[in-house]
Formats: sequence, C-alpha cells, structure tokens
Amino acid sequence: MELLIKESGKLIKQSKFTIAFTGAGISVESGVPPFRGAHGLWNKYDPQVLDLRYFYNNGAECWKYIREIFYEFFADARPNKAHEVLAEMEQNGLLQAVITQNIDNLHFEAGSRVVHEFHGNSKKLKCPKCDHVYEAAEINFEVIPPLCVDDGEILKPDFIFFGEGIPQDAYANSFEAAEKAEVCLIIGSTGEVTPASFVPRAAKQRGATIIEINPEETIFTHQITDIHLKGKASEVLPKISEALI
Ligand code: APR
Repeated sequence: MELLIKESGKLIKQSKFTIAFTGAGISVESGVPPFRGAHGLWNKYDPQVLDLRYFYNNGAECWKYIREIFYEFFADARPNKAHEVLAEMEQNGLLQAVITQNIDNLHFEAGSRVVHEFHGNSKKLKCPKCDHVYEAAEINFEVIPPLCVDDGEILKPDFIFFGEGIPQDAYANSFEAAEKAEVCLIIGSTGEVTPASFVPRAAKQRGATIIEINPEETIFTHQITDIHLKGKASEVLPKISEALI
C-alpha cells in the first residue's frame, strides 16, 4: 500500500486538474450510515420513502422516516479527516473540484468550496408548489410533516428522490470537471447509481488516472480503476496528504 500511496501522491502533484468523486463511504466515519452493504440504510428502510411519486401521495407517512434518517441520524454528523484532507488539498491547489453524491453538507462544513452536489443537500427544504426555500435549521421537526407557511403544502427536502432529475447546474459542472480531469479520486462509492457513476467514467474516457479509495472492491475497481487503495477514507487520505508534501 505504501508504494501505491507514494505513486498516488506523485500523480496528484503532477496533475493540472484533479477531482474527487465521493459517495456515502466518505461519511461513514462521521457516523452517517451508508445506503448499501452490511449496515446499509436500505436494509432497514424501504427506499420507497424516497420515491418522488410515492412521497407526493404519502408525504406525512414518508416524513416519519425522512426525519429519522436525515434529520435525526445525520443532524450531529461532523466532517472527518477524509473531508478535511480534501479541503486542505483544494486550499493548496491540489484539488480543483469535489463531485459528491452525498447530501450531508460535510464537504462544505470541512471547508471545501468547489463542491458539486449531484443529489442535492439535506440542509435545505423546498415547497413543491411555490418554490419557497427553507433552511433545515429554521424548521421545527417536532411537528411533521413540515408545511409551507405560504400555502400549507408539505415541504420536500432539497435532495433528489428516486424518479427525480439531477440538479442541472450540478450535472453540467460535474461533467465539465470530469472532462478536464487528469486524476480522479473515487472515494466511498459502490458506483451502483446512475447517472452519478458516469462522472468518473467520463474522466476515465478523457484519459484521467483513476485512484479508488474503498475498503471493498466495487463495480469501478475492475472496470476503470488504475490504483485501488484498499482502506478507510479517513485512514488513507491522511497518508496521501503526507505523500503530497
Ligand atoms: N471509507 C471508504 N469507503 C467506505 C467506507 C470508508 N470508511 N465505509 C464504506 N465504504 C464504501 C463501501 O464499501 C461502499 O462501496 O462506501 C460505499 C458505500 O456505498 P453506497 O452506500 O451505495 O453509497 P453510494 O455509492 O454513495 O450510493 C449512491 O445511492 O441511494 C442512493 O442517493 C443515494 O447518493 C446515494 C447513491
């Protein structure tokens, strides 16, 4: 592993444009459960609660689970070492963009600035009728479902549900970054969800070197990964950070 870390450090230092594609795995050590795998959320909850059509017809029922998963579980999660290293790399000009599937806001809280949130962000809620945007911090989640003060509609968290389109800006910015990437880090993602998982594939297509950080093998590993650093993000990224000095 040491040799691979060293090689990764060298590639990142030589790269003119490096991106990091992150999934739920980077937030596992912040206490945010992943969706798949042994302790995955989808083993405990029915993904239907995040199906757009089902939500519009059963908002009150869905909100019981949405509150528990995203506003109780996630609420006090803090960035871990992995998020912090990516923010430091950006500050040192060694990382040009983070493209994240995560909705937990932890990259921003760690200090990253160029973060394309492919699936939106749970810290905002929106009225589906009048588009009034609310900060999660201003909502009293004791009373659910939360309602729009203007028209009484059930508010929807501002992250995408199954069957919902990807935010256009995030989509465009992510693929624009992937087209420019010389190195693409893939951190903590099964690669099972599209179109998000097309982002690192687009980077590979344009000739980027793919460095994957994940304790497990994934769909990416044998298809596009050049260097697989088999380990936890919060253990591997500090080692890469040392190799960048
Ligand atoms: N460090 C790095 N990777 C880890 C760690 C860790 N400490 N712990 C787990 N992982 C890896 C797992 O091995 C797995 O490959 O993180 C990945 C988590 O996979 P998923 O839960 O499927 O997360 P992700 O790929 O981000 O899911 C994509 O699915 O349900 C949707 O919208 C949701 O954004 C999510 C999307």
